[in-house]
Amino acid sequence: MGLSGAVLLVLCQQAMSSFVDVPKIKMLDGREMPGIGLGTYLGFDQSGVIKSKDKQLRDVVLKAIDIGYRHFDTASIYDTEAEIGEAIRTKISEGVVKREDVFITTKLWNTQHKREEVTTAIKEVLNKTGLDYVDLFLIHWPIGLNADYSYSDVDYMETWRGMEDVQRLGLAKSIGLSNFNREQLQRVLNEGSVKPVALQIEVHPQIIQKDLISFAKSEGIVVLGYSPFGSLVMRYGIRFPGPRMDDPVLVTIAQKYGKTPAQVVLRWVVDRNVVPLPKTVNPKRLVENINIFDFKLTPEEIEKINQFNSNTRYTLPSFWQTHPYYPFEKVPNPISDPFRG
Ligand SMILES: NC(=O)c1ccc[n+]([C@@H]2O[C@H](COP(=O)([O-])OP(=O)(O)OC[C@H]3O[C@@H](n4cnc5c(N)ncnc54)[C@H](OP(=O)(O)O)[C@@H]3O)[C@@H](O)[C@H]2O)c1
Repeated sequence: MGLSGAVLLVLCQQAMSSFVDVPKIKMLDGREMPGIGLGTYLGFDQSGVIKSKDKQLRDVVLKAIDIGYRHFDTASIYDTEAEIGEAIRTKISEGVVKREDVFITTKLWNTQHKREEVTTAIKEVLNKTGLDYVDLFLIHWPIGLNADYSYSDVDYMETWRGMEDVQRLGLAKSIGLSNFNREQLQRVLNEGSVKPVALQIEVHPQIIQKDLISFAKSEGIVVLGYSPFGSLVMRYGIRFPGPRMDDPVLVTIAQKYGKTPAQVVLRWVVDRNVVPLPKTVNPKRLVENINIFDFKLTPEEIEKINQFNSNTRYTLPSFWQTHPYYPFEKVPNPISDPFRG
């Protein structure tokens, strides 16, 4: 049987065994997070962030809940919060889940970094979703911007105090960070009153983030890995260099376990104690991506996949690289800011 035949067979078998009971991970504040989250960022084109059409995302989330997804990753800038909220409320009213069974992560956008704006921002989220609280609220970037997207000098420690307010008010059960580097994370640990429980960063075979993950772990912080497929999939309509779905290393491991290369990469994320956040709006891939909790990679297989590392980021907003709190390494030719039009 060829590779595509084998992949099809694996997927048919999994589609028939419907519900996946996803393991949970304990956070520093005692709460639990489901060990995989569905990404809901629909991407970007010339007109800005791509919006869901005809409630496509709501329908994806309805299906996702039926097959076992309990964790949804969104952000104010993705414009998907309302449809996620609608789907969750529908499933609660149908008696399929209770609110406490579902975990929603969302993120504060850069233009709402002043302390008092953080509470306004979360109230807007709750208004959009029709929910009383979110489970995890993250500062999306350490970078503060004014409403016109010019740089604001608001310190992310001021923003963190706003996050602590939101948690105190019960509007977000847990709080954390996204796209903070090690020094910035250390500063929040040193100067904050509450420790961040989670750090969301880019993690895939081309950026394995060994140091940042082990530092976060040493502090008891849960790491969430975004863009888990790396170069395996097209990004912005482009095929970037790096391993593909037919990479011999991934295919060999996949065949051993009766899984697909995509599942092997997601399992590699899980086996590194990171919560993967794969995005799909495709019903078959929704089933494929959650069927990763019935096998485990060996340390040698994990190490083989680690060898793809080239520290390549696909989320690299170099247009902000002159901002004092830019978290990443600078590049010689920054791109222009798509948010400013
Ligand atoms: N904190 C941050 O700054 C940040 C940045 C980026 C992303 N994120 C979060 O992380 C999530 C995931 O990241 P991402 O969307 O960049 O990348 P990703 O999940 O690695 O890749 C998504 C792409 O892979 C395709 N795909 C999904 N499952 C597949 C499978 N099994 N086989 C083949 N193709 C598959 C999807 O297409 P289909 O939909 O057609 O299946 C889509 O084109 C986002 O949605 C967002 O929630 C956070």
